[in-house]
Amino acid sequence: MHIRDVVKNCSGCCTIVCVALLLSGCAPKTTSEIEEQPTLAHVMEPLLNDASEVFWDSAGFIDTYEGTTDLTPTTEEGWQKVIDAADEITRLSGVLQEERYSLNRPAWNEISGLLAVAADRGRQSVVDRDGAELFEAGAQLYQVCVACHQSFWSNNRFTIASAETQ
Ligand code: HEC
Repeated sequence: MHIRDVVKNCSGCCTIVCVALLLSGCAPKTTSEIEEQPTLAHVMEPLLNDASEVFWDSAGFIDTYEGTTDLTPTTEEGWQKVIDAADEITRLSGVLQEERYSLNRPAWNEISGLLAVAADRGRQSVVDRDGAELFEAGAQLYQVCVACHQSFWSNNRFTIASAETQ
């Protein structure tokens, strides 16, 4: 890329930064390149956490004074959301096994792989339209979170209210 193109692509205020980057021999990164390398905290929250909450919010029952609400999906869209969440959890299972996150720790990779196992179970429960099995998949998923946090997160402050009250 020619320097003129770089300068043209920059808004005025960052031109100096871009030129400085070029002078230092670094090609400026596009936004998408930066987004492909989220911090571990960002992989956890929002990415992994949001996908997992679809599992947890799509299974089981909530009791209130008005009665009991079954969280099992009742629409195609509801089931599809679980499939999409399972796909995202599987993708993040792979992301976590990248060296920059795993630091080549075998136990880390093993636990990360179990996320995909729980996701597969959830996906199969959708195929079978089996709400009880989806609940079990969500519980299994939660166990994986806890297992890794206990081993690798010294400052663990992770709680899930809905899982704790079950
Ligand atoms: C392979 C290990 C591993 C697995 C599996 C894992 N976590 Fe984490 N998680 C961590 C580590 C390490 C941290 C601390 C990250 C930090 O503070 O930089 C963390 C932090 C978090 C945080 C706090 C992020 C923040 O804002 O500081 C949330 C939320 C979280 N994890 C959710 C989950 C959920 C939900 C699951 C399961 C579906 C899960 N994690 C599974 C390793 C893991």
